[in-house]
Amino acid sequence: MVFYAVFSLISTDFQGLTYICHMEISQDTRNILGLKLPTDPRWVNLAEKSLEEILTDHAWCEQKAATTCISLIQRYSDKEKLVAELSPIVTEEWGHFRLVLAELEKRNLKLGNQRKDEYVNALLEFQQKGGDYEGRFLDQLLTMALIEARSCERFKRLSEGLNDEYMKKFYRRFMESEAGHYTLFIELAETYIDKVKVRLRWSQWLKHETSVIKKLKVRGDRIH
Ligand SMILES: [Fe+2]
Ligand SMILES: [Fe+2]
Repeated sequence: MVFYAVFSLISTDFQGLTYICHMEISQDTRNILGLKLPTDPRWVNLAEKSLEEILTDHAWCEQKAATTCISLIQRYSDKEKLVAELSPIVTEEWGHFRLVLAELEKRNLKLGNQRKDEYVNALLEFQQKGGDYEGRFLDQLLTMALIEARSCERFKRLSEGLNDEYMKKFYRRFMESEAGHYTLFIELAETYIDKVKVRLRWSQWLKHETSVIKKLKVRGDRIH
């Protein structure tokens, strides 16, 4: 059943770090959401000191989000709902890229080269590479859901923790948008794959993501 729901992005055991957003999600999706580990509180202070680096990294993240959605459409062109739902997300992510690019330009900064994304690389290691088609497809959707969820959480940190009012509002907008994206990827998984299987694999992904976050050094020049 799909309905308009109010849900907390981060589970309530997240040391009070909860927030509410309104969106269309299924009851099953609602039950399985929730990152297990909040971002280290030091991160936003470090990020504030290297906002230029954060903007560059963010720009690349948005670009990668757009290109990954294009790849999914190309790979799974037989899935009508996926194609229909992800097509506007490509436009949205590209719009995000342009917004961040405009912020860089305003500051006379250059986009620069793409950086090594340790977080995403560590997630990709967990993806099922061989085996059944369905398992590989599911992992591709859940990887995206997770990146969107963690990005959303980081944007929340920035929207609350920065001192600059303009930048707080800037990141709030991204936070809301990425929250919608991660539920969409879970919904797509539930559309094509048994919900119990989706839920089980999502919980494994959440555990893996927790171990990745624990291992990564807290650095202010990266979104993740
Ligand atoms: Fe985005
Ligand atoms: Fe997104």
